[in-house]
Amino acid sequence: MATLAAVAGAAVVALLSAALALYGPPLDAVLGRAFSLHKARSMKNMADTLQLVRNIIPPLSTKKHKGQDGRIGIVGGCQEDSPDAVHDVEKWLPRLHALVVGPGLGRDSTLLDNVKGILEASKARDIPIVIDADGLWLIAQQPALIQGYQKAILTPNHAEFSRLSDAVLGDAKDSSSDRPRAELSLSQALGNVTVVHKGERDVISDGKQVLECSRGGSSRRCGGQGDLLSGSLGVLAHWALRAGPEKTNGLSPLLVAAFGACSLTRQCSHQAFQKHGRSTTTTDMVAEVGPAFSRLFEA
Ligand SMILES: *[C@@H]1O[C@H](CO)[C@@H](O)[C@H](O)[C@H]1NC(C)=O
Repeated sequence: MATLAAVAGAAVVALLSAALALYGPPLDAVLGRAFSLHKARSMKNMADTLQLVRNIIPPLSTKKHKGQDGRIGIVGGCQEDSPDAVHDVEKWLPRLHALVVGPGLGRDSTLLDNVKGILEASKARDIPIVIDADGLWLIAQQPALIQGYQKAILTPNHAEFSRLSDAVLGDAKDSSSDRPRAELSLSQALGNVTVVHKGERDVISDGKQVLECSRGGSSRRCGGQGDLLSGSLGVLAHWALRAGPEKTNGLSPLLVAAFGACSLTRQCSHQAFQKHGRSTTTTDMVAEVGPAFSRLFEA
């Protein structure tokens, strides 16, 4: 399973990096009601945020060569038998633009020591890091590993979010049911790392603002869905940081990247569920990445 999870993430990265030239009908009419941001923001702003995602996507060009739009590393189900995995990965780091850590990782202590080394090495190189699944378990044990690292993005589900909040905020945890504030508090307590709380609605915060993404999706929860989010977020984080704040209209690039990845994952889930219903698997969702990407971002 470890390998499968990493493969799902890698497949999404590969699909996004590959030529996505399909054309879908404009969705603007649907977007207004499909996306919801924090209460204070208007419908117009919701569509605007999607436009910001479009702004950061590098155009396809026959003049580019392989890897020019980004090389993303995925650390998941890694070489737990190799005591020297850090050095193996360090060899790759200079060539990578973003790292995704966690899918299918496991909690073996040697392995987690390796992951710690990989996180330190990535931070030293100022590489954006998306952390999911067992990577988040490690962060809950040792929040100092990413404390204050402005290019870290955490993608917790409900259980992982609670564990992180307990570890970082303890008794100070906001006990109110106002979810957006909980994401804001966790982000700030971690020194404004970007937090993407996955759920019925995805709630995203960079410690300053809160965005919500509630478009589409489906009621089907299949294993591996999170890998689609973390994998695509690795790609979008690199694109957003490279595009810079001019392209994101002053919003944090990582906030825009996270909104894009949540939108894409939910759109894939929606499209796959329409075709496969209860039997939908993450593989079916991965098959929708190309068409969903076109519908959302290239209309
Ligand atoms: C995080 O952002 C808040 C809101 O802008 C700010 O008050 C705080 O100083 C920031 N914290 C860090 C560690 O940058």
